[in-house]
Amino acid sequence: MTLQKFPLLGLLLLLSFVGSSVRADGPVCPASTKLSRASFPEGFLFGTATAAYQVEGAVNETCRGPALWDIYCRRFPEKCNNDNGDVAVDFFHRYKEDIQLMKSLNTDAFRMSIAWTRIFPHGRKEKGVSRAGVQFYHDLIDELLRNGIVPFVTVFHWDTPQNLEDEYGGFLSERIVKDFREYADFVFQEYGGKVKNWITFNEPWVFAHAGYDVGKKAPGRCSPYVNPKCHEGRSGYEAYLVSHNLLIAHGEAVDALRKCEKCKGSKVGIAHSPAWFEPHDFNDAQDGASIDRALDFMMGWHLDTTTFGDYPQIMKDIVGHRLPKFTNEQKAKLKNSCDFVGLNYYTSAFSNYLEKPDPSKPRFLQDSLVSWETKNAQSYNIGSKPLTAALAVYSKGFRSLLKYIKDKYANPEIMIMENGYGEELGATDSIAVGTADHNRKYYLQRHLLAMHEAICIDKVNVTGYFVWSLLDNFEWQDGYKNRFGLYYIDFKNNLTRYEKESGKYYKAFLSEGTRPSTIKKDEL
Ligand SMILES: *[C@@H]1O[C@H](CO)[C@@H](O)[C@H](O)[C@H]1NC(C)=O
Ligand SMILES: *[C@@H]1O[C@H](CO)[C@@H](O)[C@H](O)[C@H]1NC(C)=O
Ligand SMILES: *[C@@H]1O[C@H](CO)[C@@H](O)[C@H](O)[C@H]1NC(C)=O
Repeated sequence: MTLQKFPLLGLLLLLSFVGSSVRADGPVCPASTKLSRASFPEGFLFGTATAAYQVEGAVNETCRGPALWDIYCRRFPEKCNNDNGDVAVDFFHRYKEDIQLMKSLNTDAFRMSIAWTRIFPHGRKEKGVSRAGVQFYHDLIDELLRNGIVPFVTVFHWDTPQNLEDEYGGFLSERIVKDFREYADFVFQEYGGKVKNWITFNEPWVFAHAGYDVGKKAPGRCSPYVNPKCHEGRSGYEAYLVSHNLLIAHGEAVDALRKCEKCKGSKVGIAHSPAWFEPHDFNDAQDGASIDRALDFMMGWHLDTTTFGDYPQIMKDIVGHRLPKFTNEQKAKLKNSCDFVGLNYYTSAFSNYLEKPDPSKPRFLQDSLVSWETKNAQSYNIGSKPLTAALAVYSKGFRSLLKYIKDKYANPEIMIMENGYGEELGATDSIAVGTADHNRKYYLQRHLLAMHEAICIDKVNVTGYFVWSLLDNFEWQDGYKNRFGLYYIDFKNNLTRYEKESGKYYKAFLSEGTRPSTIKKDEL
């Protein structure tokens, strides 16, 4: 989107420049003429991110129990676009090799997740602990530390133990709270001496919305009026219930972390995944107003709750009795339960006020009274979208979102837990085409620049940035076809890793300036 198309926006941007220049405090940015690590504040962490289910493979090793996605993909292979069967990236066996890739990229940190199914194969301690599973994460974390890479660990990245799904429906039941706390506490006690950065939950909005309102991701539940292919589910109800239980479980996990002696000095957050929104029609005040509402539903749902202790008022007003209520004790545990705001940013959309919701067919998006559009009233696209891109590229939305969080949530510390570019190469997929990923390189450049402006001009306190992802991996409903890696994986030939242009770029970007010295010798 260019400024000529939206003169009003240009003006607003200009004002924010002027406004921030009189502010003396905030992040200190070194003077620089070229965008690189050296132009970011001292101590800023750069890394790459992954999730256990998407990269580990070795599904039947370490006594690993079945996870929600194993069973879902076996039952509905078409919903996982998975013609590679159980072939994964095999990070489980190749993590040492992959840590050398992280090193060669000059990264400082690595975001990983722990598979619950490798620790408690059947979801609960009394049913058995896998010592081999516990040891695997010790070995992985130790190898990261030995190589000077700071681990950021996600406690839950969507791989609910299938046994808990079978027993009580997983996150649909409040029984998950007790089991999750037990698991989180175990993980903190086990690794808390050497892991100081935690993410309790990854993308609660996607987990609840895609899994339980539109049925796009496991467990694939929704009402028939949303998608006739859903086998079970209740849109407009279950997503709220799932998030409610997840939030209470988060409050309990943070409580366990604060009480864990060896975990002293650790930080914890949630990785939220909002889009940014521009008004569909600048002349329609309702469209402008719908942006705040869209963000309250998509991000405030979990961020207001973990900051202020309750759901956004607008959600209570609109969703009414379908939105569960917290007890006072739960609210107290949720309030200020995060040390930083984790943010996964990918794309933006136009926000169009939805005038005539159908009360007989409740669903999350309709509740927010917003319809998401990729074209605005003048038929302009949001950002650009190369032919093979999974999502529209709109880096200005990244900067706007960061400023929005700063202003609305009292200038919190923000960490970019994911940012990256997915592409489906289709018939052209080959090592040569896949590694010549100039669109991904451009995406990273634009977003690093937008983040730099947010930090250095808008004075947003962003302290870390993780590219999604180190490697091409299992992209949920898109299977292995949607590639996000800085390294290409040849799925047909021994899972060989090949550096892409984007990897070369990130490496060069990080080679300038000085790496933060965050690893203390006595933690090794
Ligand atoms: C950013 O947040 C961190 C953690 O709360 C804090 O230590 C630091 O002072 C903040 N930086 C700025 C410039 O506000
Ligand atoms: C893992 O075990 C399950 C259940 O026994 C089986 O169906 C699957 O094929 C196994 N996968 C691999 C990769 O060995
Ligand atoms: C496959 O890759 C692994 C890990 O890099 C390597 O050890 C092994 O030799 C490779 N096998 C073949 C047949 O190339």
